[in-house]
Parts: sequence; C-alpha cells; structure tokens
Amino acid sequence: MQRLPALLALAAIVAVVMLMVRLGKLEDRLMHYEHVNGGGPAPAASAPAPVKEPLQEVAPYMGRIQNYLQKYWLSVKAGNEPLAYFYVDEIEESMEAVEEMGLIDKGIPISAHMRTYGLATIKTIEKHMKEDGLARAADDLDLLVNTCNSCHERTGHDYINIQLPTASRFSDQRFEP
Ligand code: HEC
Repeated sequence: MQRLPALLALAAIVAVVMLMVRLGKLEDRLMHYEHVNGGGPAPAASAPAPVKEPLQEVAPYMGRIQNYLQKYWLSVKAGNEPLAYFYVDEIEESMEAVEEMGLIDKGIPISAHMRTYGLATIKTIEKHMKEDGLARAADDLDLLVNTCNSCHERTGHDYINIQLPTASRFSDQRFEP
C-alpha cells in the first residue's frame, strides 16, 4: 500500500515522457508539411511572378455601396442611429477597397477619385454623426448621392445616375430601433 504513491508518480512520469515523444514527432511532421506546402520561401520563388489583376472589378463594390446606401437611408428614416452608423461604415469599407486597388482605367484614376470624392464625403458624414447623431442626416444623404454622381461623371459614367430610394425593397429586415 505504501508503494502506491511512488508507483503513481512513476506512471505519471512515464506518461509525460511518452507524450513528449509523440509531440516531438508531431512537430517534425508539421514542419515537413509546412515546408512542402509553401511555409518557407522556396515555393514562392518557384511560383510565377505575382501579376496584378489586369482590371479588378469596381462594379461589385458599387452594387454593395448602392445596397448599403439604401439601408443607410432606411435606418435614418426609422431614426435608428446605430444602424445608420453601421451602414455608413460599410459604405466606407467598400470605398476603401476600391481606393486600395490602385486602379487607373484608361487614364482615369478611379482609386484616387474614390479618395477625393467618396471617402472624403464619408469622413464628413461620420464627423457629423459623431457630433450630432442623425440631426444632419437628411443633408448628409443628399451630399452622399451628389458625391456618387460627381464621381460617376469624373470617371466617364455620367449615365449612372443615383438618387435616394423612394421605398424599401427589404421586406425581410426591420430598420426601427
Ligand atoms: C471612384 C468614384 C466613385 C464613387 C465615389 C462612386 N462610384 Fe459608383 N461607380 C464608379 C465607377 C468607376 C463605376 C463603373 C464600374 C465599372 O465600370 O465596372 C461605378 C458604377 C456604379 C454603379 C453601376 C454598377 C451597378 O452595380 O449597377 C452603381 C449602381 C454605382 N456606381 C453606385 C454608386 C453609389 C450609390 C455611390 C455613392 C454612395 C457611388 N457609386 C459612388 C465610381 C464611383
């Protein structure tokens, strides 16, 4: 009976040693796997030189921005400040994505225009919201729509004419707080 604690301790030590061995093997396997699958610099060097996407699509981002603009408008109409702020932030993120593309299309600096038109306006709107909540939201919405259209003009897309929505097409989302 008195040997029991000693035996238990021995068993524990054996278990720990076995665990360490297994872990060591696992680590070896992992390192091998990482090496084979491009964890190191070797595979990158053998891959073809990264080519910048010839023309990244702006239109899908525009579709999103249009969607968020509608939801921003609906949130304002419903007096839902946190939701309005959420959608302004979503618009900003999509605009930033276009800005970060570094896109120049047929000599027109799309990404730079996104900075001077879209993002500048969004920053202004965010400032207004921080200062006054939704008090200036009606003017801000008009400002934003003007910005959309100014940039469309500047980028040779004056036929894409944005206006504020006249009704909700989202029967599946409540905008009230
Ligand atoms: C860089 C400045 C810029 C700003 C700011 C901008 N757009 Fe655009 N927009 C474009 C360009 C460029 C295209 C054409 C994309 C293409 O050629 O694929 C476009 C196309 C569109 C389209 C047509 C594609 C579609 O999904 O039907 C819509 C809608 C649109 N924009 C909505 C908006 C809205 C809404 C805003 C403002 C909240 C906005 N845009 C702000 C540059 C801009």
